[in-house]
This record gives sequence, structure tokens and C-alpha cells, in this order.
Amino acid sequence: MKELSKVMTNMEVSSVRKLSKYADAAKAAGKKVYHLNIGQPDLPAPLEYYERIREFNEPIVEYMPSQGLPELLKAMEDFYRGHGFSFRAENIAVTTGGSEAVLMTLLALTNPGDEFIVFEPYYSNYNTYFTISGATPVPVRTSVTNGFHIDREALEAQITHRTKGIWVTNPGNPTGTVLTAEELRMIADVAKQNDLYIVSDEVYREIVFDGRQITSFGFLEDIHDRLVIIDSVSKRFSACGARIGTIVCKNKELFNIIFKLCQGRLSVSTVEQHGALGLYEAGYRVINQVRDEFEKRRNVVYDALRQVPGVECNKPEGAFYMMCKLPVEDATEFLIWMLEEFDVDGETVMAAPGEGFYATKGLGKDEIRLAFTLECSLLEKAVSILAKGLEEYNKVRGVV
Ligand SMILES: Cc1ncc(COP(=O)(O)O)c(C=O)c1O
Repeated sequence: MKELSKVMTNMEVSSVRKLSKYADAAKAAGKKVYHLNIGQPDLPAPLEYYERIREFNEPIVEYMPSQGLPELLKAMEDFYRGHGFSFRAENIAVTTGGSEAVLMTLLALTNPGDEFIVFEPYYSNYNTYFTISGATPVPVRTSVTNGFHIDREALEAQITHRTKGIWVTNPGNPTGTVLTAEELRMIADVAKQNDLYIVSDEVYREIVFDGRQITSFGFLEDIHDRLVIIDSVSKRFSACGARIGTIVCKNKELFNIIFKLCQGRLSVSTVEQHGALGLYEAGYRVINQVRDEFEKRRNVVYDALRQVPGVECNKPEGAFYMMCKLPVEDATEFLIWMLEEFDVDGETVMAAPGEGFYATKGLGKDEIRLAFTLECSLLEKAVSILAKGLEEYNKVRGVV
């Protein structure tokens, strides 16, 4: 047989799912596994979503226009207007989740040799799309010591003639960091000075804690010609499986390329786009519930982790993730041990290995990403199991 794609063969698997086989084996052996590894919220989708789907009663399930169902584009425009953004339906394309929005944006921007600045640790699935598009991610390091915020000098140091754009995830996955308005202004200025695009993944935009105002490049009109916003209903409306995302872009030339990509894949699911109308109708009623629930969970998980000896983590400012430094040398090995060899009364915990969120080899080896997508009582239980696991693991290895 002829050789398969080298590029795809060598592509790394998602670090979030890397340990799945160990979790499956643990479950097959009768263990209960608390999943802190995946950003799948357990909150119900709003009733309006199901109502809109039930109402869908067309005799023919037609393709929708490639840019998106016009009523949905209008609902998205209204949503952005509510934030004070000046985006119009003509600047918006509906995509199959934020994931397709990421892919299309990279395909539309990238020529061979192009580099994108990314702030590491970053959402590891971007690597799939960097690989497909041929773009090279160039990491700028952020760290737990300053809450994963961005340093201008570190950013500017990585810009070369090959840099095409700056990739921002705000609020951050895996860090939960919400960039300040000043940080966004700084990034915008750097982008202008160096003639770079800004891609801002804002799928968690409204999930911000402690009374914070949302921050977004949507507020910075002077860079709208070089801006793409990636968006999604998945997190804020707790509807990951709806697979409805958004590309927002006022640059007409760039938008035309994105539109061609949309035409190439014909249409996003007709039924799901009708369902998404219900999500936007539910609007802030649901978003506020989602945000408040994750803030409660953030408090529980952060307070519990602070009591665990040797664990170091930032207090997430938004989204529903955090990076934790563990008192172990190799967090992946520890997580596998938790699944294979450890339990408390038949229960154990799974998290995502931190190193998969870094592009720089060797970084994040002693870190894990936790997603607080379980209810508070389960989170407390999970952290206590993790704490016992760490104690036992280090005892077995003679670390004390
Ligand atoms: C930062 C970020 N961007 C994009 C996505 C993709 O989301 P979806 O394809 O469900 O819209 C995710 C999913 O976890 C994410 O965390």
C-alpha cells in the first residue's frame, strides 16, 4: 500500500484524551473515575434550544446558506451589539463549532513558512490546525508566577519577518486567565507596529469571575481590519454538542476567503442552526447561570487545592480550567499511576497532562490541567483523592 500522509501520521494526539485508554481500563476494572481532564460542562442546555429543534418541521432538510442561517447571523449580530461591538451580520460566518472557525481562519491566513505567536501553555487542539494549515506556532512563555499574564518584551522578542499573526485565547484554556484591557491594548499596538493579524479565540468570553468586566478585541475598533474573533455556543450556553461556532471578521478580503471555505463545505447543520436560535434567545439568563456556577466551582477547587502540600496553582479568573504544578517529576506518569494503581474506595481521578499544552519541549512536565466541570461536592471529593494519591505516590517513591 502507498504511504499515508506523513504530516498527519506524525501529528500528536490531543493531550486531553491521551490517557483515555488508561481510564477505560480503570473503569473496566470497576473503578469510578472523576474526569477533570475534559472541558465538557455538565450543565443542561437551555430549554429554548430543545424547543427550537422540536419546532423544526420542514419537509425537506435543505442546506442552509454557506455563511449561515440568516436569522442566526442576525441573532449573533444582536448579541455582539449587546456587548457594544460594531460587528454586523455581513462580518459573521457560522461554522461547525469554534473548531472549524480555528481551522478556516488558519487556512485563510497561512502561506508556507508563516508563523503565529501563541502564548503557552495553550489549547492543545490548536496544534492539529496548525499542522493542517502548515502554520508554525511560535510560543511565548507565560507562567503561574504572574498568573499567566503577558509580557510585552517576551512577545516582541519572538516577532520575526515570518510572523503572520498573534494568537490570543481570552479567557484562557488551560490557564483560566482573563487578559486585562491594558494587555489587549498592548497586543493591539504590537500588532499594528509589526503589521500582524490578531486572532482572538473568545469562546469563553463571558465566563469571567469576581465581578470582572469582559475584555475583548471587539472593543478595539482601530484594529478591526486585522482582527478575527473565534466564537462558539459550546461553553457559554453549555451546548458543546450543538457544534455551532462563529468567525467574526471585518476585513473584507479575508472574509471573502473564509466565505469560499464555507462554500466548499456547503453548510453547517440546518437543524442545529435552528437550535442555536434558542440559545441566543436564552442569552444572558443562561450565560449568567453558567458563569456563576463555574465561579462557585472555581472557589471550591482552588480552596481545596491550596490545602494540598506541594501543589502550586493560579486562581483562575475565568473559563473553567486551571494549570497546577504538582510535587512530582513527571505528571503524566503520576496520572497513569492514579488510573492504574491507585484508588480510594474504588475511586480515582483523571486530569490532562500539562506538557501537551506547551510547544516548548520539557515545559509543563510537572503540571496538569484541571477542568472544573463537575459539581462542587464531586470536585471536593476528586481533590481529596488527588491529594491522597500524591502522598501515596511520593511515599512509594521515597520522596516523602
Ligand atoms: C480555547 C478553545 N477554543 C476552541 C474550542 C473549540 O470549541 P467548539 O468546537 O466546541 O466550539 C475549545 C474547546 O474546548 C477551546 O477550549
